[in-house]
Amino acid sequence: MPTSVYVFDAYGTLFDVHAAVRRHAAAVGEDADRLSDLWRRKQLEYSWILSLMGRYRDFWRLTEDALDYAFAAVPSADPALRDALLDAYRTLDVYPEVYEVLTSLKATGARLAILSNGSPKMLASAVSNARLDGVLDEVISVDAVGRYKTAPEVYDLVTTAFRVYPEAVSFQSSNRWDVAGATAYGFRTVWVNRTGQPDEYFDLPATAVLPDLEGLPALD
Ligand code: LAC
Repeated sequence: MPTSVYVFDAYGTLFDVHAAVRRHAAAVGEDADRLSDLWRRKQLEYSWILSLMGRYRDFWRLTEDALDYAFAAVPSADPALRDALLDAYRTLDVYPEVYEVLTSLKATGARLAILSNGSPKMLASAVSNARLDGVLDEVISVDAVGRYKTAPEVYDLVTTAFRVYPEAVSFQSSNRWDVAGATAYGFRTVWVNRTGQPDEYFDLPATAVLPDLEGLPALD
């Protein structure tokens, strides 16, 4: 039996995408939540739309473009904060349970990885800031195939890196659409529903749903 492989989505699952605006909330002003929400939504929308066109620009550029759109749509927020917000995005807060959960899993002999839309550079910065370098066996970016989740070629990067069949992989994501993609690919999936979102993609259900990463079921 190969040892278990646990793969984690990065943004929203390990790293809090709203931490950047939160860090500058007072300067951003009354529409801080709206700016942060729009920033994230547009970043993801661009990834899907480009993939449908068969085009690719790396996730850092989409993150910049999405922030520019969010500033244009939220006039109360001062675009002079652009650089400060982008800097904060490079070192997003890691969720409180992440380090301990990953370290404990690692101690059982499991192999651990990130599979993310993030560019290699932005992932390296987030991982090192969260001190996760020593815990992760691989940090896999979609950049290697130039397409975004939920393209099957992206999930292939995991089975290729670890030389396993999809069913040997437990994939954890807070993004329900990413869980749908990973379920369609054949991974066991855990939806980390951190913000109590309603379920969707009923034909592609998660194997388990948890409020955070604690209590991840063992793979057998
Ligand atoms: C990622 C995005 C989807 O890390 O959050 O892949």
